[in-house]
Amino acid sequence: MSQTVRAAVFPVAGRGTRFLPATKASPKEMLPIVDKPLIQYAVEEAVEAGARKLVFVTGSSKRAIEDHFDTDPELERALIEAGKDEWLRTVQGIVPPGVSCIYIRQGEPLGLGHAVLCARPAVGDEPFFVHLADDLIAAEPSCLNQMAAEYARHGGSVIAVETVPRKDTSSYGIVATDDNADGRIRRIVEKPKPEDAPSDQAVVGRYLLAPAIFDKLESTGRGAGGEIQLTDAIADLLDESPVYAFSFSGQRFDCGSKLGYLKATVAFGLRHPRTGAAFREHLDSLV
Ligand code: G1P
Repeated sequence: MSQTVRAAVFPVAGRGTRFLPATKASPKEMLPIVDKPLIQYAVEEAVEAGARKLVFVTGSSKRAIEDHFDTDPELERALIEAGKDEWLRTVQGIVPPGVSCIYIRQGEPLGLGHAVLCARPAVGDEPFFVHLADDLIAAEPSCLNQMAAEYARHGGSVIAVETVPRKDTSSYGIVATDDNADGRIRRIVEKPKPEDAPSDQAVVGRYLLAPAIFDKLESTGRGAGGEIQLTDAIADLLDESPVYAFSFSGQRFDCGSKLGYLKATVAFGLRHPRTGAAFREHLDSLV
C-alpha cells in the first residue's frame, strides 16, 4: 500500500557558479523567472502534490531563502497602510496554511546524496519527494503531482526521466528499464559518457523516494566528481525495492544553464497574465 507523500526535500546548498556574478551574494534558487524565484516554483509544485513538510538543505549564503519563506510583518504593515491588498495577499500566500518549513545546514559540499541524507532526521521513516529547483517543469498537473499519482498505483520509488540527445548523457543520471510498460529501472548510472550510457533516458530533478534510500545513502561512498551521489544509492536500492522511471508530460527548462534560464523566462513571460500579451507583441516585433 502506498502512503501519502507529506515531505519534500529541496537541496539548495550548491553555490551556482555557472551564474556568477549573479550568485555571488544571493542564492541561485532566488533567481526569478518573471516575478517568482525558482525556489517558490519548487515549493508550489511540492505543495500542489500534497507535501506539508518542506525540508530545505541549505549552505552558507542561502539566508535569503529562509527570509523568503518567513513572514515579514514590516512589509505587511506597509502594504496594509498603502492599501495594496493584492500584494499583501501575494506575500502572505507564499507559504500556505498547514505547511511548515525546516532548514538543515549541509556543512560540507559532499554532493546531492549527502544533501538528501542530511534531511533524514526531518523526513523520518516516510516516502518523500526530492525536488531540484534548477529543473523548472511547466506541466498541468505538476510533475510531482503526476509522480504522486503514479506512486499511488504501484508504490515503490518513482523517478522522473526524459529523453536526451546521446551526446548529453554525461550531464545526467541515466537509467535502463525493463522492456515492458511498467518502467522498472534495472540500472542507473551517474553521468556516463555517451558510449557507456545504458540508454538515452535521463533523470531530471524530481524523485519520489522510499525511506529505505537513507540506509543506502549511509553506506554510499564517494562516486562521480568525488561526491556522494544519490544515483549510486538508488542503484543499491534497485534489487531490494522497485524503482520506476516515469516519463512525465510537460516541458522542462534547465535553469542551471544560462540558455535554459532564458528559455524559461520567455516561456513563463509569454503565459504570465500581466506580461503575456505585451511581451508577445514585443517578441513579434523582433522577428
Ligand atoms: C543531478 C543528479 C543527476 C540528475 C540531474 C538532474 O545532477 O546527480 O543524476 O540527472 O541532477 O538535473 P546535477 O545537475 O546536480 O549535476
